[in-house]
Amino acid sequence: MSDPEALKRDAAAKALSFVEDGMRLGLGTGSTAKHFVDLLAERVAGGLRVIGVPTSEVTRAQAERLNVPLTTLDETPELDLTIDGADEIDPALNLIKGGGGALLREKIVASASARMIVIADASKQVATLGRYPLPIEVNLFGLEATRRAVAKVLDAAGCPGPLNLRKKADGHVFVTDGGHMILDAACERIADPVALAARLHAVPGVVEHGLFIGLASFAIIASPGGAEVVG
Ligand code: 5RP
Repeated sequence: MSDPEALKRDAAAKALSFVEDGMRLGLGTGSTAKHFVDLLAERVAGGLRVIGVPTSEVTRAQAERLNVPLTTLDETPELDLTIDGADEIDPALNLIKGGGGALLREKIVASASARMIVIADASKQVATLGRYPLPIEVNLFGLEATRRAVAKVLDAAGCPGPLNLRKKADGHVFVTDGGHMILDAACERIADPVALAARLHAVPGVVEHGLFIGLASFAIIASPGGAEVVG
């Protein structure tokens, strides 16, 4: 049995080999991205000059603590490379993201980047997206009306549900860095992620969803045999 944290770190370490001096980086969120920021900080301490845009307040705090220089997308609207994790990766490199609740900033940052590298252990690879609940970020105003509209879209897409309002371990509602709520949709199998992405975007009240279509340049997948570039 290999240590899952060791695999995540292997993927993060390989991603570091694509980082060049002077790059403007998007810094992902989650346990795999956390390894990347740790390793990046070691390189920065050794003289590598980069600047990063964090995709969450958690990543911002980590990067600040480790003295990784940060900027904002307002100051630096175009990035060279984003490195981020994923909850699922299909063979076309479409992703489900947002397990950590940072999908909105993650998608904005990835979209502002010339390239996105996804880092993950092999358990994240799937033939078809949908086993992992799809996070859908929604505005608090009109939450129940939005939930019903989203449920109709999911029903038409063949997602059996349920559609759950995300809560924290203490039972309180999870609130994103942007002040929104998250609905987690049990889909089992998303037959047409491109169509579902478009239909979810068309629902007023949906701020963003966790389907990342065509954003990943390639993935680095770690297994006990090593970390490999995929795609
Ligand atoms: C956070 C994300 C994460 O990238 C995703 O949940 C994967 O996290 P981990 O590396 O901890 O498995 O999308 O919003």
